[in-house]
Amino acid sequence: MRHVLSLFDLSTAEIQRVLELSRELKQGVKDGKRPTMLANHNVGLLFEKPSLRTRVSFETLTTQLGGNSLFLGEDVGWGKREPVQDFIPILTSYLDLLVIRAKSHAAVAEACEYSRCPIINGLTDVSHPCQAFADMLTIQENTAGLADSKVAFLGDGNNVAYSLAIICSRLGVEFSLGAPEKYQFDAAFVKDLNDSAGKELVKQFDDPAAAAEDAEFVYTDVWTSMGQEAESKQRLADLADYQVNEALMKQARDEAKFLHCLPARRGEEVTTEVIESGSSLIIEEAENRLHAQKGLVVWLLQEANG
Ligand code: CP
Ligand code: NVA
Repeated sequence: MRHVLSLFDLSTAEIQRVLELSRELKQGVKDGKRPTMLANHNVGLLFEKPSLRTRVSFETLTTQLGGNSLFLGEDVGWGKREPVQDFIPILTSYLDLLVIRAKSHAAVAEACEYSRCPIINGLTDVSHPCQAFADMLTIQENTAGLADSKVAFLGDGNNVAYSLAIICSRLGVEFSLGAPEKYQFDAAFVKDLNDSAGKELVKQFDDPAAAAEDAEFVYTDVWTSMGQEAESKQRLADLADYQVNEALMKQARDEAKFLHCLPARRGEEVTTEVIESGSSLIIEEAENRLHAQKGLVVWLLQEANG
């Protein structure tokens, strides 16, 4: 059974296929078409952390495709009320698809082992593949060509940056992380991506201006992710020089666009001027969560596990 725990679970051709389905299904909604591919299907959303975009986009796409979604919060007792060896097989025997947002990536990997239906990672401490699909859909819609594009991610080399680096390198897009050394990716991860791409698409800089140079898309995320609240003061101090502001945007291409997975903390990782500027694509990017995940769900249920 195929799951989407990380983008490493898909080949490059499969990533491209998901994006192709996403574009077709997005156009379909605009043309008034709502194919009922999930009719009589039950999609579970098991969430250990708060969410607006991930939860609502999965609930909405399930409804648009004719299925039913079930939101499952703390009260179901995952990891608390009974052993995972009982909890996951029972839960997934009721469902056709399970989306999990978890504190621990290892816990989602363990759930995949015991699952009786496909699982999609809806964010862990390590990765956020659904976000990366929506980001790439947005990049494709706003660039003349991926081969000449460049994405610069400023700030913490976190779950969002990790998945974005994978999807960029798989699709031949240059990706620079601008972060202090202790917030950068593991060297082995970068080497692995560049070896697979056959060229040095992924680079890391501790100088934010060097990372942003010639970028077509400038991306940032919060400096303190969910679960890291105790480190917030230290992170604020360590990452202050990596804020995306008008001066930083000037290091990028003239028509560079701004991206953010959201939620944002204005005045920290990004200024109000930049996030509200004409170059900001944040609303389109958030809308694309719906379309990209729809492509992912259809691919996973009909093609990967069909
Ligand atoms: N970007 C994102 O995953 O948003 P939520 O945390 O609101 O789901
Ligand atoms: N890096 C953030 C992303 C939120 C969508 C977090 O994990 O909290």
